Amino acid sequence: QRYRDMGSAEKMNPFAEQEAWEDHQIENATLKFGAKNKEVSDNYEFVFEDQIDFIKASVLAGENYEDEMHAKPSQDSAGKSAFHMLQEDRKALPIYSYRDRLLNAVKDHQVLIIVGETGSGKTTQIPQYLHEAGYTKHGKVGCTQPRRVAAMSVAARVAQEMGGKLGHEVGYSIRFEDCTSEKTILKYMTDGMLLRELLGEPDLGSYSVIIVDEAHERTLHTDILFGLVKDIARARPDLKLLISSATMDAEKFSDFFDQAPIFSFPGRRYPVDICFTTAPEADYMDAAIATVLTIHVKEQLGDVLVFLPGQEEIEAVEENLKHKIRGLGTKIRELIICPIYANLPSELQAKIFEPTPEGARKVVLATNIAETSLTIDGIKYVVDPGFSKMKSYNPRTGMESLLVTPISKASATQRAGRAGRTSPGKCYRLYTAYNYYNDLEDNTVPEIQRTNLASVVLSLKSLGIHNLLNFDFMDPPPSEALIKSLELLFALGALNQLGELTKAGRRMAEFPLDPMLSKMIVVSDKYKCSDEIISIAAMLSIGPSIFYRPKDKQVHADNAMMNFHVGNVGDHIALLKIYNSWKETNYSTQWCYENYIQVRSMKRARDIRDQLEGLLERVEIDVSSNANELDSIRKSIVAGFFPHTAKLQKNGSYRTVKHPQTVHIHPASGLSQVLPRWVVYHQLVLTSKEYMRQVTELKPEWLIEIAPHYYQLKDVEDATSKKMPKTSGRAVV
Ligand code: CDP
Ligand code: MG
Repeated sequence: QRYRDMGSAEKMNPFAEQEAWEDHQIENATLKFGAKNKEVSDNYEFVFEDQIDFIKASVLAGENYEDEMHAKPSQDSAGKSAFHMLQEDRKALPIYSYRDRLLNAVKDHQVLIIVGETGSGKTTQIPQYLHEAGYTKHGKVGCTQPRRVAAMSVAARVAQEMGGKLGHEVGYSIRFEDCTSEKTILKYMTDGMLLRELLGEPDLGSYSVIIVDEAHERTLHTDILFGLVKDIARARPDLKLLISSATMDAEKFSDFFDQAPIFSFPGRRYPVDICFTTAPEADYMDAAIATVLTIHVKEQLGDVLVFLPGQEEIEAVEENLKHKIRGLGTKIRELIICPIYANLPSELQAKIFEPTPEGARKVVLATNIAETSLTIDGIKYVVDPGFSKMKSYNPRTGMESLLVTPISKASATQRAGRAGRTSPGKCYRLYTAYNYYNDLEDNTVPEIQRTNLASVVLSLKSLGIHNLLNFDFMDPPPSEALIKSLELLFALGALNQLGELTKAGRRMAEFPLDPMLSKMIVVSDKYKCSDEIISIAAMLSIGPSIFYRPKDKQVHADNAMMNFHVGNVGDHIALLKIYNSWKETNYSTQWCYENYIQVRSMKRARDIRDQLEGLLERVEIDVSSNANELDSIRKSIVAGFFPHTAKLQKNGSYRTVKHPQTVHIHPASGLSQVLPRWVVYHQLVLTSKEYMRQVTELKPEWLIEIAPHYYQLKDVEDATSKKMPKTSGRAVV
């Protein structure tokens, strides 16, 4: 048997029963905590006495509330309008009983920390309550989300609940996509977008309330926002600031926000049985598939939520699971597989919220997004392999990579909790209890302490914040990471020697892109190729999923791809060729099919490009085209990415020029067989090796010409006498 269940535990491990029992206690303790609402803070606190009061309050609140709701018509054939049914759902949420008390607390305090179990209605309901209480009369209610999918899907849900169209009263704003209008009063947005809005509106004057939601996620942008909105709230007594979190470390937030009161309300939670594996799993994806199948065949009905690190893993598991299910024939019940990850098109996102048909079972394959940002009703089983994709950053070399990393205990607890929202549930952890207790960290390290800070430092500088070491950080980043990003911005010409923003830096800050990409765009003015460069920047921004390779047509797909690489032009120019060819066919879908290119990705690239073109105008750069001067285009790329250069070694690997490190050209690159002597790359990804993704050849003398402050002659001296033997294969044309 793969799992150790509570009962049979002690046979495998003398401590197992104890461990399992403790786990059970963890779950129950949280439940108790929720129901009783023990003291959370010494500073100030709202206590909800007992159940009776709770019921009374909901009845009262319900009565007051009913009338407003009945005002909206639109009946369906069943007599009960869909709208009415949604209102019923709203009232069933745990937060509903605390509506009035919450509104009173908001009235009495400028800053409030709100703590409530995931799925209790914080994100969808609080903005609506504020609207109903009149807070939108003199400004918008803004609510930040760490993830784009959450911002979109929550906004869609709230628009529905309010009986309006998405983008009207309720809208969302994420990078490169603004779904709001002048009418918008409830605005969901990514934390990064609010940061960008601050650049144009430093006092957030158009908002009456700002909700920093999912504060426990501690993303880089959320952490930066903490410091900024705290300052704005001091200067604007009329602004209400709500910090909302799903976990109990509320004191830390309260301390940071000048001892702001904590409003915490109980959620509903059923016990969750935790099972660990008895031995470590060799392959967590295989184990996840096997577990889903076991649940499907053996366990009573109820939906399954599987946590996987990313899109690739989700797609692989989806395919494999479908294959296995087909193999099982018609004897078993229907299994509906729903993936959810950041890049999933919005029409497919809605699918995970559709109720499961009677007799069937739904299995949701999700990234960390389903850990706290999104609540899917009806989940009874959670499969937790114990991994997530995490950014890590080496401040010494300035290299950033995305790694599949073990999660923290806090994450594991959140994941398990997703199984017990509507009924008792079960969580299958695909790791051992020993692993859990001994190897997992208690909490996830905040992103600000493990990421490249160049982009936020540029934003802060353009907000006029000069002394970053004195910035009000909840948890400061390592100072070497701050210094590294200042050095990079200086090297890119965004800051002068005094650390002040230059004209180029001001222009760069206008682009919602990594500073190296922004620099590449700003400098393209000089090389008269901004038209080509924004196409390349847009194509780089859509990520690696441009081509698709159907199993039975891989050769055709590869040939189609190689067409764009003819002449070994390099990956950046190949991206430009793809974009331009598509444009020449008048953005034809048919053309995409014929070339095994994802239409969706291309449409997104076009959107992004349009916006970049608008931003060019804003920073007064003309759109100029220089399509035949490929070297001008390459020089613009180098001017943005010169810190990312590498030189070929005798053994066919590469060595980065500054901070030497061994790297390789990604096999998907058009240059992976060509191996030019000098290359500039877009990013490094670490899989089986450290790979450079999106690579272009450069001439070493360009480095001295373009970045004389960064490279010296000795860095780029190319022992030209020692020509590389041309042993490795040529490009396939
Ligand atoms: O923010 P919190 O975790 O407290 O809860 P929420 O996101 O406001 O979710 C409240 C309810 O809305 C849950 O029952 C969700 O299932 C539902 N919801 C939904 O049906 N569709 C969405 N796109 C978002 C939430
Ligand atoms: Mg939420």
